Amino acid sequence: MRPITLALLLPLVFPLAAAAQDTTDADARAAALAAKMSREEQLRYVHGYFPPMSKDRPADMIPSAGYVPGIPRLGIPTLRESDASLGVANQIEQRKGDVATALPASLALAASFDPDLAYRSGAMIGAEARAKTFNVLLAGGVNLTRDPWGGRTFEYLGEDPLLSGIMAGESIRGVQSNHIVSTVKHYVLNPQETLRTTMDARIDEAALRESDLLAFEVAIERGQPGSVMCAYNKIDGDWACENDFLLNTVLKRDWGYKGWVMSDWGAVHSTVKAANAGLDQQSGRELDKAMYLGKPLADAVTKGEVSAARLADMNRRILWGVVSTGLIDRPVPTSAQPIDYAAHASVAQEAAEKGSVLLKNERNLLPLARTAKRIVLIGAHADVGVLSGGGSSQVRSVGGAPIEIPLTEGAASSFARVTWHASSPLAAIRAMAPQAEVTYLDGRDPAAAAAAAKAADLAIVFGWQWRTEAQDIETLSLPENQDATIAAVAAANPRTVVVLETGGPVLMPWLGKVPAVLQAWYPGQKGGEAIANLLFGAVNPSGRLPMTFPADAGQAPRATIPGLAAMKAADAAQKAGGTYGMVERDLSPVVPYAEGAAVGYRWFLRDGVRPLFPFGHGLSYTSFRYGGLRVEGGAALRVSFDVTNTGKVAGADTPQVYALAGRRGKPTQRLVGFERVTLAPGETRRVSVTVDPRFIADYDPARRGWQVAAGRYPGTVGRFAGDAALTGTATLAAQTVKP
Ligand code: BGC
Repeated sequence: MRPITLALLLPLVFPLAAAAQDTTDADARAAALAAKMSREEQLRYVHGYFPPMSKDRPADMIPSAGYVPGIPRLGIPTLRESDASLGVANQIEQRKGDVATALPASLALAASFDPDLAYRSGAMIGAEARAKTFNVLLAGGVNLTRDPWGGRTFEYLGEDPLLSGIMAGESIRGVQSNHIVSTVKHYVLNPQETLRTTMDARIDEAALRESDLLAFEVAIERGQPGSVMCAYNKIDGDWACENDFLLNTVLKRDWGYKGWVMSDWGAVHSTVKAANAGLDQQSGRELDKAMYLGKPLADAVTKGEVSAARLADMNRRILWGVVSTGLIDRPVPTSAQPIDYAAHASVAQEAAEKGSVLLKNERNLLPLARTAKRIVLIGAHADVGVLSGGGSSQVRSVGGAPIEIPLTEGAASSFARVTWHASSPLAAIRAMAPQAEVTYLDGRDPAAAAAAAKAADLAIVFGWQWRTEAQDIETLSLPENQDATIAAVAAANPRTVVVLETGGPVLMPWLGKVPAVLQAWYPGQKGGEAIANLLFGAVNPSGRLPMTFPADAGQAPRATIPGLAAMKAADAAQKAGGTYGMVERDLSPVVPYAEGAAVGYRWFLRDGVRPLFPFGHGLSYTSFRYGGLRVEGGAALRVSFDVTNTGKVAGADTPQVYALAGRRGKPTQRLVGFERVTLAPGETRRVSVTVDPRFIADYDPARRGWQVAAGRYPGTVGRFAGDAALTGTATLAAQTVKP
């Protein structure tokens, strides 16, 4: 147990957990409380402060993402908001010395295909948030990755609605098991960072329902988040936070969502329109152009432009989140509590171990034998740590940041630094191979790296690529001449392993020359240990890609980043005119998502395009066989089969069930089920999947519902998208499912 030091917090006063149960009728309690609030109180609870910029600083306000003062006379709690999904964030160390457990990238979590791990990860973060006095976590990022260059790809759960929805839902459930609120975000189709606060994403309703909305729908059903965060951008011409169709029609009416819609920070653009369209709370008001839900809302209610009933509804919804999660009955402590960081670190390590993906392993180079005498590690600061993604999710991890590089310009420069967590692969590999001389070289000089590799029995090259919120990456190639270094090392030593610390796919021009590649993503604060365990076989790799790795940028639906060239031109003009950063750019690119619901692997499979590595791919140190397929139809599609570990070591496999579904246009392969199974050598397990009809249906906007057409449906069991290890078909009856 290591107690945290949080100088900014007040002395310890731990309120005893109230005896009241959390699950009493949240609807009735929330409505009764909202009715007791005065008009002034109701107007106060619907907007929050951004502490770093706040002029009013109540004594209990600490630097974090958000603060909404409570109403003590009614026992309504102050909302103390923090980011989020990868651990309790502390960007640019705004709370000096306040560390937290840093999980790997959410992509790694998704790659584990392990819902239980998602739950435990969420529960861990929620426990730390609570111990640090936060009661709202801005977690639950579930935007589908439509483009391989997305800056926040690492914060999301990949490209598939079923996988993303399940993992986000479980993680939210875990967070909220601590009687605090989690959000799900960013609602919805918030697909790129470039011009993220002005771009306009266009898509038709059916396609949106079958892709991004479906991920949110599943996450909300599973996780029951207290709040939904609406996104920055426009969708079909309307800002996400004043989009009547998305907020009122889809979320609140069709899905029956009872919690509250909070804005992203700086995403509000109006008072009357937003309030009537379904926005319930303005977050971080200092970041918006105006205090839209403050005085202007009071005036609008007086004038009848927003009804008093709607104002009460906004509060009732916030209170539903506060009551249904148990937050109201079990208030968070008023000062920081000790945290068992050692126990939490093991969750971070497990996530890194289960989420790393063995992409290639020719001639069984891995696992590494412990007989090598000289091992050289090259690149990515592998002597001191592992890379983290940047932005609001940035955790100041236990152990600190051995490297932090400030940005000199760009949208992320005010709140992101290129940061490494203190988990040294060099130290971990030395501990794993005590017989060997293990050295490190920075790899900046390809010739020097090649010479060192030649003199060694084994070379492990670490490749890195930093991604951050607020900026997309302009190239899928590894930066800073790393491809040349990797190619030179591989040419010098055939026993070369590449370990990638990236927040998404990268191009691998050297792949043909490198026998083994481990995708470690941003592996979190125990990443070094996890990488060593995986390379040496102490842990058998089991991750599967949650997104497609394209062979070249041109394979993706959009080869270039919409709006980037115009943004750069505008920035250059501002620089020349001396107004850079002072004048807002007037750029609002309209971006059509012509691929519709064919996101990621669906896009590749639809047109028969062969990626570098497909969705779902991942190798193991053992092998698995599938057999005994049964595909049954009738009211629901059911697929069952046996998985056998046919190798010599224990391992986990994630067989994936795909169905060729959708009758509108060209049918597409969709992931309709998966199960992660851990098997001893020789062991067989039967896996059964009952397919949620929404995943094989077409959404029909005219009939407002999901339509499963009667007919024959092929069900496939595969190791990755496009693989057909087993295939059967079954006949399904026609079915209509409400939205
Ligand atoms: C991000 C959100 C985050 C919020 C508060 C925004 O810029 O888009 O994901 O929760 O800031 O930090």
